[in-house]
Amino acid sequence: MIISTAILPGSHPSNNPAGNHISHAFLVHFKPSFHTVRVLTRDPSSAVAQALAAQGAQLRLFDSAREGLDLARSLDEALDGVDVVVNALPGKTSDQVKRAVVEAAARSRARVYILDEYGLDHRIAAVPGHEHPGWLEKGRVSIETRERLKGRKVIALYATLFLEFAITPQMGIDVAKNTYTCYGSPTQPFSTTAMEDIGRAVARLSILALDPSTAPTVLDEVRIAGTTTTTYAEIRDVVARVRGVPGAEIEVRDVGELKEEIRESGPGEKAFYEYMKVVIGEGKVDFSAGNVNELVNPGGKLWKWKTVEEHVRGLLA
Ligand SMILES: NC(=O)c1ccc[n+]([C@@H]2O[C@H](COP(=O)([O-])OP(=O)(O)OC[C@H]3O[C@@H](n4cnc5c(N)ncnc54)[C@H](OP(=O)(O)O)[C@@H]3O)[C@@H](O)[C@H]2O)c1
Repeated sequence: MIISTAILPGSHPSNNPAGNHISHAFLVHFKPSFHTVRVLTRDPSSAVAQALAAQGAQLRLFDSAREGLDLARSLDEALDGVDVVVNALPGKTSDQVKRAVVEAAARSRARVYILDEYGLDHRIAAVPGHEHPGWLEKGRVSIETRERLKGRKVIALYATLFLEFAITPQMGIDVAKNTYTCYGSPTQPFSTTAMEDIGRAVARLSILALDPSTAPTVLDEVRIAGTTTTTYAEIRDVVARVRGVPGAEIEVRDVGELKEEIRESGPGEKAFYEYMKVVIGEGKVDFSAGNVNELVNPGGKLWKWKTVEEHVRGLLA
């Protein structure tokens, strides 16, 4: 099957490159399935964008903040003739731009649309009545998009935290200092997936959803658990092994107290990391069952999922 896809945006010069990893998967790992991969970026001349072009990407200038931009026209040109639209725009994207993307997808011939999710399954409640505004917004956009794109395949891929965001001081895991703080039990399992594996999963879901013989296997909302499944204690042990230091004590805090702090602080005052600590501590993001790992990567034969140890070794290299 010959597939044409557009990734918005697919290039990214910073250290937070969800779209870049997705582009890479389409252009490199699943290249034979995609004859056209169109990548939208604010700067086609950047080194990252040029590296993607060298891999075969068609680059399209797209900067929603550019003065005088004809948003609808620019998006229509970008999505012209594509089968799949992958939305990897930042969460802070304005409502106007978010809606314009969906409208352009509706005008296009795209049959598959990947929502700008890739994070927590926001059907999970962290602090009922006091959820993070970003997650409420994703839920609203998801409903509106499905309504507007009725009859097409609209997929939400939920991954909880990227591995690269899970093993960070913000999550109470400081690999360099060998210090750990968690909420709830340190042996509570939680799922996480590396960005490169998210990219591959998005490409595979696109391929499966477009093929009539496999399309029914792809549900509208799917969970992934690439690095299935770790715990604070395991990460501490991995760091100890890799660094050759003793396993550090893990400071254990009370999830209930953190929830109370979130309730008291008001909407959006606490970073999304704090909400993630709650859902991890309460065991709500163990996706080791009911995920699409096997669907996208049967028997791990298409690629090897990145492990916690590989990531930790990379951090310490
Ligand atoms: N699960 C997790 O742990 C996790 C973590 C972070 C993000 N996410 C999700 O991943 C998705 C992408 O987020 P992200 O953090 O990668 O986004 P981001 O870093 O904030 O931005 C992604 C890219 O969007 C492009 N962009 C920014 N402003 C733009 C504008 N005005 N017009 C056009 N393009 C613009 C830029 O690409 P160019 O420089 O190429 O133009 C930018 O590098 C979101 O759905 C987010 O919620 C998940």
